[in-house]
Amino acid sequence: MTVIDWTSHPVHAPLKGELTIPGDKSVSHRAMMFGALADGRSTVRGFLEGEDTRATARMFASMGVRMEAPQPGVRIVHGVGIEGLRASEGALDCGNAGTGMRLMAGVLAGQAFDSTLVGDASLSSRPMRRVTDPLASMGARIDTHDGKPPLRVHGGAKLKGIRYTPPVASAQVKSAVLLAGLYADGETCVIEQHPTRDYTERMLAAFGWPIEFSPGKATLTGGHRLRATDIEVPADFSSAAFFIVAASIVPGSTLRLHSVGLNPRRTGLLEALRLMGADIAIENRRESGGEPVGDIIVRYARLHGAVIPEAVVPDMIDEFPALFVAAAVADSPTTISGAAELRVKESDRLAAMANGLRILGVAVDETPDGATIHGGRLGGGRVEAVGDHRIAMSFVLAGLVAAAPVTIGDCENVATSFPNFMDLARDCGFDLAQVH
Ligand code: S3P
Repeated sequence: MTVIDWTSHPVHAPLKGELTIPGDKSVSHRAMMFGALADGRSTVRGFLEGEDTRATARMFASMGVRMEAPQPGVRIVHGVGIEGLRASEGALDCGNAGTGMRLMAGVLAGQAFDSTLVGDASLSSRPMRRVTDPLASMGARIDTHDGKPPLRVHGGAKLKGIRYTPPVASAQVKSAVLLAGLYADGETCVIEQHPTRDYTERMLAAFGWPIEFSPGKATLTGGHRLRATDIEVPADFSSAAFFIVAASIVPGSTLRLHSVGLNPRRTGLLEALRLMGADIAIENRRESGGEPVGDIIVRYARLHGAVIPEAVVPDMIDEFPALFVAAAVADSPTTISGAAELRVKESDRLAAMANGLRILGVAVDETPDGATIHGGRLGGGRVEAVGDHRIAMSFVLAGLVAAAPVTIGDCENVATSFPNFMDLARDCGFDLAQVH
């Protein structure tokens, strides 16, 4: 893959505009999975045309699921039924996507055939025992490479339901167990210490699978069927987050973001930024496809530092890189703790943000599970995105308000979650260019 560098120049005018952010990554992955396993035809609108979610669609295509893409953002999935998948000829490539790999481990554990799941260099270094351990206790047989991908999933296992409390707050772990539970004898129950995003539970219910769930607990039994249904994917809050922070830090800015998903397990960043003094309003709150959505209006505000409550960490787990930049311009320190999970995302995000901000002249005290960021003035320089989409987009925000341009190395993976980020950013006033 070619390595792409970006330079984000300081802006001298407010950011302005109304933006439509692409579809939610978590919902798009699941819509492909449940559509494929359902009986009948499901139409998915607002599908994220990102590398991660396309990889998931391709995996099902290689297992015999017919998919049509009549226009960008729309997929018609011709479901094959809960037992209709057939073995893929080659390995299943999840690309950069932890969600793809961990959820697929649960689905494939229940199949009659063997499968191999592989990923790119980043995914190949991420921990998989968090899913293979509970799946093994359900009777699945999955080989790993010392706890990391590739995963070799042996078919034909007889699964039984379990009652499981994941040791880390993870919707991916919860979902893998619930998906294997579709194929298991008896009841599968996941109890969480900290509730995580509940898209798997909501979408199983929408596809007609009997499931009981409330924040922190989900229970289902195996042996039912999924009924095709149409899915409306909301705009991804995690992608919107970059524009929420951008408008908050560039003086005079106002941005309106249309129809963004506002599932409470995703919107912790709003709480954190409000603690820091941000000016964020929600209008047109409504339901779309069973999910709360609304328009987010963000206006510039002077930010001060805050102590981010640990209870809100799982609700903003993907938004910390952007929050680091908000903290870097705040006029007092911000402290993050209870966020050790950031070390095992697409990169070690605590290290990547701390290293980059230090290059830009911001003092950061890193701890094993967080950091204190001493906000102040940002300088220019060259930082590394280390192939992580969210690190790349976060340093673009730093460039907006730095004293000199910020060049960011290794930005190509922005396409995994937000392929048109550069276009939308330029539309509302960013001065962002690709450098060769
Ligand atoms: C996701 C869960 C989260 C999140 C990821 C998407 C999902 O990961 O970081 O971007 O769709 O279930 P963890 O389960 O590792 O917290």
